Formats: sequence, C-alpha cells, structure tokens
Amino acid sequence: MNFVTANPIATNTSRRNSFFITTRLRDGDGPVTDRLSSRFVRLAWFALVVTTIVISTGALVRATESGAGCGESWPRCDGALIPVSTDAATVIEFTHRMATLASSIAVGWLVLWALRAVGRHHRVGKAALATAGFFVGEVAIGAFLVIFGWVDQDSSVGRLVVVPLHLVNTFLLLGAITLVARWASGRPSIEWRGAARRPVAIAIGGMMLIGITGAWNALADTLFPAESVLDALRQEFGNSAELLVRLRVVHPIVAIAVGLSLVWFVRRVRPLIDESARGFARWVEYIVFGQFVVGILNIALLTPVEIQLVHLAVADALWVLVVLVAASALEKSTEPALVEAPA
Ligand code: HEM
Repeated sequence: MNFVTANPIATNTSRRNSFFITTRLRDGDGPVTDRLSSRFVRLAWFALVVTTIVISTGALVRATESGAGCGESWPRCDGALIPVSTDAATVIEFTHRMATLASSIAVGWLVLWALRAVGRHHRVGKAALATAGFFVGEVAIGAFLVIFGWVDQDSSVGRLVVVPLHLVNTFLLLGAITLVARWASGRPSIEWRGAARRPVAIAIGGMMLIGITGAWNALADTLFPAESVLDALRQEFGNSAELLVRLRVVHPIVAIAVGLSLVWFVRRVRPLIDESARGFARWVEYIVFGQFVVGILNIALLTPVEIQLVHLAVADALWVLVVLVAASALEKSTEPALVEAPA
C-alpha cells in the first residue's frame, strides 16, 4: 500500500503562499523530497555552513586581535562600503562582517520560509524558531561582552561565565539548523524515551562540557600566552596563577574522557540508527581521534592561529555529527515525511 495524507497545518499554509510545502505519508518506501522542498533543505545546509564560517572568522578576529580592523565606521568598513586597505586586520574584520551578513540573510530567510510553509507547530517550524532564538542569543551575548567591557585584557568572573555560554549558544544554534535540515529532508521527529536516551544525554552533555572548558582554554591562551610548554606548565601550577590559567589543565582531561565516551555513544546507538547516520557515526570516531591530535599540536606549538581555527572548526563538525546521530537514535519509527505537494 502506498497512500498519501496531507498535513492540515501545512496544507492550509500552502494555500496562502507559493512555497507550498506539505507532508505525506508514504507507506514502506520512506521519505520523498522533490524540487522545491529540496531547495529548502539546501538553504538549511547552506545556512549551517555560512554560520560555521562566521564562527571561524569570529575566532580569527579574536585570535589576531583584529576587532578594530574597520575603525570606528559601521556598517561601512574603514570609511568605505568595500575597504581599499589590504591591512590584515581590516581584511579579517571585513570578512567576518560579510560572513555575518550572509549568515543573517540565510538564517532569516530559512526561518521565514519554514514558518510560512509549515507553521510553528510542525517540527521543522519548531527547529526554525529555535534557530531564530539562538541566533538572537548570539547577537545578545556578543553585545553583553561589549557593554560590560568583557573584552581585550579583561579576566573578570563575568567574562569567565559569558564566554563559555557563548560557545554553548553557538553549539545550540548549529544544532537547531542541523535539525531544520534533517527534518525538512523527511526524517521523522524524535521522542525522549527508549534505550537511546542515556547515551544521547551523555554525548550532548559531554559536548557542552568540552565546549565550556575549551572556551576557557582559548581565553586563557589569549590573555596569558605562554612562551614555551614548560612556561605554560609553570603558569598553571605556580602559586600565583590566575583562576583562568589554573583551569587550562581541565580541558584536555575533559576532552579525552568525553571523546572516548562519544566513541562509546556511537557504538551503543548503532543498532538504533539509520544507514546514513551509521556513516556519520563512523566519522564521529575518526574525528574524535583526529581532534585529539589537533589538540596536542595546539599545546605543543603554543596555540598558533591556524591550529586554533582548525580545532574550533573540527569541534563544530563533530557537534553537528553528534546531533545527527542523536536525532536518528531518538527517531519515532513512523512519522509523515516532509515533501512538497504537486503544483
Ligand atoms: C574531542 C576532542 C576535543 C574537542 C571537541 C575540543 C574542542 C575545543 C573547543 C570547542 C575549544 C574552544 C575553541 C575556541 O573557542 O576558539 C577548544 C580549545 C582548546 N583545546 Fe580542545 N577539544 C578537544 C580535545 C583537545 C585535546 C585532547 C587537547 C589537548 C591535549 C585540546 C587542547 C585545546 C587547547 C589548547 C585549546 C585552546 C586553543 C585556543 O587558544 O584556541 N583539545 N577545544
């Protein structure tokens, strides 16, 4: 049997606008997508990639202290719409601004499209609303850092709390966009029960812990750069060490423990996940060990900017893969797939 049922929310919405996405249940042959809905899915993956670029260029601005690269002018940069200066700080800051603009447009378009097409009660609409919330959160946290002066050489407790919160919010933003893309491609919604619950909670919580401790490390390296590995160890275990410097030792330990628990997580949920998620699960294992190597290089080479950026980008990729595997492990077995209705 192969029957089709239209989702009333989506059908009503589709009469109102030209995006015209609806849901159908295809018995036995899994999800189906066609031209328009696959355009929406492509936009979601595009938004994810551009947002990751914003995060990387933001880290580059921090690591190279290029925050003043565009001078006082905003939205212009160095007094012009497109700056003529080839000064590294100007190029970096301008690239970050352009990536932020592209990401805002992509995310804004994605959210509006999702809400107009399926409404806020559909799982794609809910993930889109979460995306909007975390996007606003990113901007708000960035503004807080500036307003409270938690920038430059500041090492106050406020900054120690807000910087890791920023990274957690970034992970949640990437996770929400990933779910928009996954659910719009026709995957069923999830429910918080069954054998996958505990491993998923450990994996998600563990990734947050890695993010929080990693953000402290990155901040410590920016504020208290070491001249050698030995100097770094002396700083960490010296009697007069700042709290942030003492915390530096925590991240590698947490990351190795959580990394190994991620390997356990993907092996534990393997019987519950679909074929494509099994591919993602394999990548989680490779990336965890690859990231261990990058982390060790980071310390051995005294956190050069290039390695910092690779380490952060790999952490983002690992997080997206963990979300995809977790979503597959928690999926309900029968749920209408999101496809476009015929014109
Ligand atoms: C699964 C493994 C790991 C993940 C997901 C991870 C993730 C992260 C993240 C998210 C940051 C913050 C980056 C930023 O805000 O710019 C970070 C920083 C850092 N991590 Fe890891 N990490 C892992 C393993 C390790 C290991 C094993 C080490 C060392 C042995 C290490 C050393 C560092 C250092 C030194 C920093 C600060 C680098 C900087 O200044 O940007 N990491 N990590």
